[in-house]
Amino acid sequence: MKTDNGVQTAGFSGRKQSLIEDARRERSSGSAGSPGPPGPSRYGDSFVFDEKDGRVTLNVLFSLSNEKNAGFFKTGKIFETFEAKLLHIESRPGRKSKNTTDLELFMKCEVHSSDLDAFINSLKRVVDEVRSIPEEKVPWFPQQIKDLDRCNMLITKFDPDMDQDHPGYSDSEYRKRRAFICELASTYKQGDPLPIVEYTAEEVFTWREVYRQLRSIYNGLACRQFMDGLQQLEEECGYGEDRIPQLREVSAFLKEKTGFQLRPVAGLLSARDFLTSLAFRVFQCTQYIRHSSAPMHSPEPDCCHELLGHIPMLADKEFAQFSQEIGLASLGASDEDIQKLSTLYWFTVEFGLCKQNGTVKAYGAGLLSSYGELVYALSNEPEYKPFNPEETAVQPHQDQTYQPVYFVSESFEDAKTKMRRYSATIKRPFAVRYDPFTCSVEVLDQPGKIQNALSQMREELKTLHSALETFSSS
Ligand SMILES: [Fe+2]
Repeated sequence: MKTDNGVQTAGFSGRKQSLIEDARRERSSGSAGSPGPPGPSRYGDSFVFDEKDGRVTLNVLFSLSNEKNAGFFKTGKIFETFEAKLLHIESRPGRKSKNTTDLELFMKCEVHSSDLDAFINSLKRVVDEVRSIPEEKVPWFPQQIKDLDRCNMLITKFDPDMDQDHPGYSDSEYRKRRAFICELASTYKQGDPLPIVEYTAEEVFTWREVYRQLRSIYNGLACRQFMDGLQQLEEECGYGEDRIPQLREVSAFLKEKTGFQLRPVAGLLSARDFLTSLAFRVFQCTQYIRHSSAPMHSPEPDCCHELLGHIPMLADKEFAQFSQEIGLASLGASDEDIQKLSTLYWFTVEFGLCKQNGTVKAYGAGLLSSYGELVYALSNEPEYKPFNPEETAVQPHQDQTYQPVYFVSESFEDAKTKMRRYSATIKRPFAVRYDPFTCSVEVLDQPGKIQNALSQMREELKTLHSALETFSSS
């Protein structure tokens, strides 16, 4: 790749009238004409903040002195020569110079990666103080549902192969079985049929214990939406104490009810990857079951936690929307915001309480899949606080024992409204919108895209308006 050296610099000085020719020459010797091996760009680290398909995006700031006003037009020529795509331009009076007619220009542009050095060199010949403005990096996030194949970062915690406190640590058969089920998840790709696990009699026995115990206390402690969902699962999806439901059938059930679908996962996911999948109405589910010696307790997610704690709630439209909105808020968020969102998720979707008809009920999956904590959480023993995202997001929490504090929402609607307000405060240089037709996330970062989204919404509003008129006139 072309590098800037003293000989070339000397070659340019003093003959700026042939600048464009020089730029062309530099371009051709720096890219297609270069026989040398590829290497790092001299300016790459400091100027480039995004690289895709052989093109780089960069922010350049430079000064244009009064005497060099012509430099502005030459800058345009350089852009033309390098086929640079101008994405954004701003100007302001120069800050360093006493001459008030001096200008500072900021340009965001895109050039061929191989032209980067030559492009910057050429700019330096016609303007002063070419500098870069670092762009805040937005963490990668999936935009299509198939991209979830890349969202599988597992957290090693309570691993039965390594953690002596894990109930399955000294049971090699259990560990082998679990590794087999996890392997099914590890090789899964979006769109594959969900793996079927032929559960053993011992595994079904464990499930039965859990199901029977929890089912006996749900009435009176679980919220209405959970009870409705569970009843539907029992009637339509084979839920019961005698068999462990398969993810494949549960996923088909959910898809019909709320558009959510399941995806197998090999263990505890990173907060970012887990939240990301919610944006696509995908819920990542473990398929192995807890150790038979401890049916009432699992230090990690297992199929009892997923199928009993989460699934009935995901069959509720309003709760499904609430879950997806947390996911959408997480896309491209900073690590600090991910930490806060996962804490919010913890105190709502996992350990949330809500008021219903004057009493407090559980809707969190961590509670609804744990006999002991469900009873404790509604015993008036722990501390209760009203759900307030700003406060909840920074509440310390742990997963070793029962929570010392639970947050109570007035209703799901109230929780959703507060979460929306909170999500709007997360700083991102774009907004996102989920397209259910293509199962993709649209990044709204340009006026044209926002205009398109508005046009679509206008059409939808017209349909609703027309329906309302029909209804009113009948
Ligand atoms: Fe969970």
